[in-house]
Amino acid sequence: MINVLHQLASEHHRFSIKDSFSMQPNRVTDYSLVAAGLFLDYSQQNISPQVMKSLNDWARQCDLTGKMQAMFGGEKINNTEGRAVLHSVLRAPSDVQQAVLGGELARQVGDTQQRMAELVGQLHNGDLVGFDGRAFTDVIAVGIGGSYYGPKVCAQALKPYTNSQLKVHYLANVDGEGVEEKLDALNPATTLMVVISKTFVTQETLLNANAVKSWLVEGGCNEASLSKHLMAVSSHVENAIKFGVNSDRILPMWDWVGGRFSLWSAVGFPLACAIGIDNYNELKAGAYEMDHHFMNAPLEQNMPVIMGLLGIWNRSFMNYPSLAVLPYSHALRDFPGYLQQVDMESNGKSVGLNGETITLATAPIVFGQEGTNSQHAFMQMMHQGQDKIPCEFIVPLTTHSTLKEHHKVLVANCFAQSEALMNGKSLAQVKTELAAKGVSEQEIEQLAPHKVMPGNSPSLTITMDKITPKVVGSLLALYEHKIFVQGAMWGLNSFDQWGVELGKELSSAILTAMDGEDDTKLSPATSSQLARFCNLGK
Ligand code: F6P
Repeated sequence: MINVLHQLASEHHRFSIKDSFSMQPNRVTDYSLVAAGLFLDYSQQNISPQVMKSLNDWARQCDLTGKMQAMFGGEKINNTEGRAVLHSVLRAPSDVQQAVLGGELARQVGDTQQRMAELVGQLHNGDLVGFDGRAFTDVIAVGIGGSYYGPKVCAQALKPYTNSQLKVHYLANVDGEGVEEKLDALNPATTLMVVISKTFVTQETLLNANAVKSWLVEGGCNEASLSKHLMAVSSHVENAIKFGVNSDRILPMWDWVGGRFSLWSAVGFPLACAIGIDNYNELKAGAYEMDHHFMNAPLEQNMPVIMGLLGIWNRSFMNYPSLAVLPYSHALRDFPGYLQQVDMESNGKSVGLNGETITLATAPIVFGQEGTNSQHAFMQMMHQGQDKIPCEFIVPLTTHSTLKEHHKVLVANCFAQSEALMNGKSLAQVKTELAAKGVSEQEIEQLAPHKVMPGNSPSLTITMDKITPKVVGSLLALYEHKIFVQGAMWGLNSFDQWGVELGKELSSAILTAMDGEDDTKLSPATSSQLARFCNLGK
């Protein structure tokens, strides 16, 4: 099937998306789908019935359904770490948790969710107090990567659902300027820190957590009262206890929940603090609705499968190196950044499950930002650049805002972009337009080539009625499963991340070299940069 798809792709570079609508009168209906509160229109992709059939035949040949069942059934599909991949069970009903996890683990999950709800309730009721007896007004979540993006992006997306009394803040990057900016705005007496780290050894998180600890002490919190201001979420409970967190303030994680898929675990605690446990449970219910669709819909009517296969078609067969995710929604403005970790840390690999080199191109370069800002940033390149850049538009059809005219303009711009990417503007059209404006022949000859837009750029559009907790959960699950489908079809392990280890090792080596120790292991370039750093610091 791979050769068939390569052959089809070579033909599809001459295929006209725009003309296909006349050849396929039902194209929009045929290439649209509703699932779990989301509407997907992929009719503006560079595809044909033969392409879609071949992609699905290939998926069947690769036993994609069997691979899906293996994941949901708890097989250790994360083969390099010997782990199952069961983050989706955390958002499933308790009977499913019981069936998949077994009694003891299901109990632990249930107890943790119960404990999480209790702590959120106590914080919202003002029952948890700091060293001077005042109730907490602020929670600062210290974590990075998957211990940060999910809760932060969802809290941002669901701002209309946030609790006004309890403010939630996020501290991820290891830059003192960012740390001080956050802490300067907070009161140590009424701030609770939640350290979120699956391993509880992440350099940035521990440095930031210790900085917050010192800030609490400098703010009047004595050592004896420090634990009142601490909570942790981790799979390494002993490390959290060593850090000073009381065991009844530690919410556990499990190794079968990958970091970038951990929002559904207690990593979601700061989000639950922000939007309330009921809305957090709605988010999980929306994600489960997408899980149910993913597990049960036939491949041809399966939203994550369709998006996964389209992404492979564009990346591995049409050879488009990147993917733009363009939320026309201020609420979803950081969704592209969240997706960069989920997509590129999962499938940014070149070795298959058994160590073999993968010959197909794998994960695309994912980027994006909210529209219409994107139109004043990089859309020029989408319309007249040398590379085709597939676009995934995400736009709510109604807004929480009272400014309805703004929303109309926002949605009109979103639809206009996919139309323009597909239709483009030919030289003949440009010349006709310029002539109609009375531009001279000579000027037309000079200017026209600069105004041509080749078009025929693929895009798809996801719409939802409104941004709600349920829809956000469904959207995140859609992309999680899309990325699973792609990893399964590429034959790689989407759930480890060995590529991040070397940078971590080298940063430790460089840190010791900064303290004047041996730097002979470093390259001349790094040694030179190091020397400049050390000299400037003197
Ligand atoms: O980015 C590498 C990574 O290991 C991610 O997979 C993870 O989400 C992040 O670092 C933080 O890890 P931890 O939760 O263990 O601090």
